[in-house]
Amino acid sequence: MDPNRLNGKNILITGAARGMGSANAEAFAAQGANVCLGDLDLDEAQKVADQINAAGNGKAIAVKMDVTKREDNASAVAATVEAFGSINVAVFNAGLNKPRFFMDIDEDNWDMIMNVNTKAMWLGMQEVAKQMIAQGPMEDHPYKLINVGSIASRKPLVDVTVYCTSKYGCLALTECGALGLAEHNITVNGYAPGVVVTPLWEQLDKDLVEIGFKERAGQAYDDIVENNLVIKRVSYPKDVVGTASFLCSDDSDYMTGQMISIDGGWVTK
Ligand SMILES: NC(=O)c1ccc[n+]([C@@H]2O[C@H](COP(=O)([O-])OP(=O)(O)OC[C@H]3O[C@@H](n4cnc5c(N)ncnc54)[C@H](O)[C@@H]3O)[C@@H](O)[C@H]2O)c1
Repeated sequence: MDPNRLNGKNILITGAARGMGSANAEAFAAQGANVCLGDLDLDEAQKVADQINAAGNGKAIAVKMDVTKREDNASAVAATVEAFGSINVAVFNAGLNKPRFFMDIDEDNWDMIMNVNTKAMWLGMQEVAKQMIAQGPMEDHPYKLINVGSIASRKPLVDVTVYCTSKYGCLALTECGALGLAEHNITVNGYAPGVVVTPLWEQLDKDLVEIGFKERAGQAYDDIVENNLVIKRVSYPKDVVGTASFLCSDDSDYMTGQMISIDGGWVTK
């Protein structure tokens, strides 16, 4: 990792207390970025921030935020600006899943997933863009919004209809956001993981047994590797940080409206 690649980048990342969010925050800071870690779980986010500060390259702060609340998005942006002077990149990573077969979906399941994965992404994009517009355009590089999608942004999956709906929405927010924010010199891109071993997937694995979609723990991983993946293994947060770092870096300046798949080839099958 080039310790200077993300020098000068002040990055807000949501859902950064664990999983891919914390791995990204650590990787961005190791490349020189200052990072604000937003999460519902302040204690865990603070631990990650402390580790980043102890490592001694980019600096980190942690803020408690519920991404579904506009005021929390606004205060996370304000905290980033107060700590680092400005914000020039944001990664909308917070997300969750709760599988249901189509006829078992109820309003609670719908609202919970759509609010966190999609509505909150829109809210966050608006609040961050508001600040970027107020700062005025940067001289040499665009501001960057980065949306975390999923294989479920592009493939219908029978056990997670609402998650697919929410993540197709993330793709739409990426493409429409790129059009809508271009005049402010803000690009919008994203990445779409497949199966990443994180607390989210560990819970999903249990839930899939509970709803009767799988018979045993770990079967979902095995079935996906066998039937869906071109690269025959599941992935880990370390498989994602390189692409996420690229999207934060100046190397992606001429891209907008793109969602890069990091899914072991699943999207091609
Ligand atoms: N794990 C996978 O296989 C996978 C695959 C494709 C896409 N994704 C997406 O990647 C992103 C990160 O997933 P992960 O697997 O690292 O998840 P994770 O569950 O390990 O971490 C998610 C983090 O988001 C936080 N969060 C949840 N709701 C929040 C809210 N309302 N406000 C603030 N923070 C909140 C949680 O506290 C947690 O720290 C999500 O958007 C997820 O949908 C995950």
